Amino acid sequence: MTALAELAYLLAAVCFIFGLMWLASPATARKGNALASVGMLIAIVVTLLDRSILGYEGILIGLVIGAGAGAILARTIRMTAMPQMVALLNGFGGGASVLVASAEYLRLSATGGAALDVGISIQFSVLVGAVTFSGSLIAFGKLQELVTGQAVTYPLQKPLNAVLLLAILAVAAYLVVPGSGLAAPLADLFGGDAAVPLLVLIGLSLVLGVLSVLPIGGADMPVVISLLNSYSGIAAASTGFVIDNNGLIISGALVGASGIILTKIMCNAMNRSLGNVLFGAFGAGAADAAAGGAAAGGTYRQVTAEDAAIMMAYARSVVVVPGYGLAVSQAQHAVRELATLLEARDVDVKYAIHPVAGRMPGHMNVLLAEADVPYDQLWEMERVNPEFDRTDVALVIGANDVVNPAARNNTSSPIYGMPILDVDRANQVIVMKRSMNPGFAGIDNELFYASNTAMLFGDAKASLTKLAAEVKEA
Ligand code: TAP
Repeated sequence: MTALAELAYLLAAVCFIFGLMWLASPATARKGNALASVGMLIAIVVTLLDRSILGYEGILIGLVIGAGAGAILARTIRMTAMPQMVALLNGFGGGASVLVASAEYLRLSATGGAALDVGISIQFSVLVGAVTFSGSLIAFGKLQELVTGQAVTYPLQKPLNAVLLLAILAVAAYLVVPGSGLAAPLADLFGGDAAVPLLVLIGLSLVLGVLSVLPIGGADMPVVISLLNSYSGIAAASTGFVIDNNGLIISGALVGASGIILTKIMCNAMNRSLGNVLFGAFGAGAADAAAGGAAAGGTYRQVTAEDAAIMMAYARSVVVVPGYGLAVSQAQHAVRELATLLEARDVDVKYAIHPVAGRMPGHMNVLLAEADVPYDQLWEMERVNPEFDRTDVALVIGANDVVNPAARNNTSSPIYGMPILDVDRANQVIVMKRSMNPGFAGIDNELFYASNTAMLFGDAKASLTKLAAEVKEA
């Protein structure tokens, strides 16, 4: 590889690192995304020019199909379906690593076999890539409701997965050193064909991916997707070692590291350990918990848009708490309009942002940014929670799990221990949703039955429009 190519990869890496850094704030996120894209363009162009590519036709066809499909998906995807899309993209990343590493394995097998270090990298890429691919497809299926969102459990689940992992490691070891005494029984099994054990390894790893994600409840999917994102990066970095490409090693390592950091942040936001998320089968008992919660619920109070508008119009402070329902009804512009009307009446308006509100990290920030809500009005959970004690009205719009006090009070609740927005401590709480149905975790919410809570039923956008009209009249 020429020094110029190495320099270009270094430049691409600098673009990725600054891009990631800028992604950390909504104010610089677009710039960060653009810079990282430039880095990727540099890496691709250098790879295409530097490598001894036999023919560009196949690459061009792949590029046109891939870019075309990507552009259509990116333009048409609904914001609420973004997590599924991310899951698919992670899966394709893992799948690509499997294909590249497998091709290199077959090429090297035909020419005398791979060196030990390359062999280990190849098998590692195949294992992690295949687990990422099938695990991501299951995550996609769960979020798209093609597969049950409940945790799927069965007897001896963990021992079976452990046996599967051992079998995979045995086949991988055989592929790395097929001649070793340790691998003799496998040699009889596979015969002389190099492709057979590779296909077995891919098949077993795909099964492991499916079996690892199936027992994880839908409410934990954000963490799983972020973890699979990290896996796809690790597989890509390992593939970078296989084909000796520094650009791939660096970008894979960055994805791997940032994915694991995001996973940790989300686990903290739910007050759960990663082990508990992966092996705790959260959500398996959600239906029972919901039933119990509903029985304990009692009566709730309803409010009309007119009365709710008066409460807010004469308040000193209103904290808006957006959740998934805001995204479903696309009410971000309507809430901004209401906030502007309230501010014109000297009401202090803040937005309280829970790290896992909605269906993807940063979901609420993205939505509100779309409606040009000033960033300084977005208050993160730790900062806004002490404010609720002195808040006149908390306006909960399509949020449910992230404001459920059971997470604080009810040790038997599946979400017990998850940090929440303490809206129940506000003077008055108005909850906007369409029914008494539970949220993503499938559990009842005691907030709705509290004496300081009033329910405003209806689609969030329609209710917000009514509220704005009433505030104008007040
Ligand atoms: P949820 O607990 O899912 O509650 C959303 C509520 O919005 C529902 O109770 C629903 O009630 C209401 N709603 C739906 N459509 C509406 C509409 N058009 N108008 C008004 N209300 C509407 O949402 P949340 O509080 O944001 O919590 C997020 C949950 O999703 C957490 O459990 C979290 O772990 C999980 N999750 C998060 C992510 C990330 S990374 N953010 C990803 C996947 C899962 P009605 O049906 O009665 O209207």
